[in-house]
Amino acid sequence: MSSFSPLILISLLLCFTSSVVSASNLYNHFDITWGDGRAKILNNGELLTLSLDKSSGSGFQSKTEYLFGNIDMQLKLVPGNSAGTVTAYYLSSQGPTHDEIDFEFLGNLSGDPYILHTNVFSQGKGNREQQFHLWFDPTADFHTYSILWNPQRIIFSVDSIPIREFKNSESIGVPFPKNQPMRIYSSLWNADDWATRGGLVKTDWSHAPFTASYRNFNANTCTRSSGIYSCSSKIKGWLSQQLDSTSQRRMRWVQKHYMIYNYCTDIKRFPNGLPAECTKPNLS
Ligand SMILES: *[C@@H]1O[C@H](CO)[C@@H](O)[C@H](O)[C@H]1NC(C)=O
Repeated sequence: MSSFSPLILISLLLCFTSSVVSASNLYNHFDITWGDGRAKILNNGELLTLSLDKSSGSGFQSKTEYLFGNIDMQLKLVPGNSAGTVTAYYLSSQGPTHDEIDFEFLGNLSGDPYILHTNVFSQGKGNREQQFHLWFDPTADFHTYSILWNPQRIIFSVDSIPIREFKNSESIGVPFPKNQPMRIYSSLWNADDWATRGGLVKTDWSHAPFTASYRNFNANTCTRSSGIYSCSSKIKGWLSQQLDSTSQRRMRWVQKHYMIYNYCTDIKRFPNGLPAECTKPNLS
């Protein structure tokens, strides 16, 4: 499990010849997994909604496991008073040493900003949070949230603007997610013990049900099934894609103006030294 086998590398090269993923009929890609009717796929597969009320939240997951992907989804978050609610949208593998790539949207009182929380787990270890405010109201309309996951890096983007890059730092001993296939998961749930202003603002159930919406799933992905590795690809090159100088400049702009927490600068939290990947190459 520890290294990238030559066979996989060969299939990575071959995979570009394989077929194109069909655009987003959500029925083809996702299963509703919980919420007892609170999650719905609508409009012939064009729209998916999750809802939350006092008795339950709801969630869905992808039918397929991916081993690398360039994955876009449009989300419109719970409008109005969404304090206490959390909409999680993430990739995860299974088991105690799982890998995970997280977007989490922490709701707020009407007019106050959402927090976009991100994290990366490798081999069961996370604690790599970065948080952002957004430069638009994420409840007024759909916006595109993307994860590019290839063997060299993970890039989180919002409306095609990169906000975070987590580079492969295996050369300095930091495990990188690259051997465990991950599924997409999403859920809307109540987390008013911590989500909004650290748990001070509680969910106001008089506004329930709360609803978040999803559409335009668009993905280039690789999968491994019965030992065979294959990729679908509309846009070639994402498996080795990196940020060009324009994208790096845009990311720096977001991080300068909208980043509100970065574990890589939290010296109090890591009194014995910041995590290894926080040294220059990964700080961006
Ligand atoms: C909610 O609004 C407050 C006040 O503007 C802000 O400090 C906070 O980051 C916002 N988000 C959450 C999830 O608490």
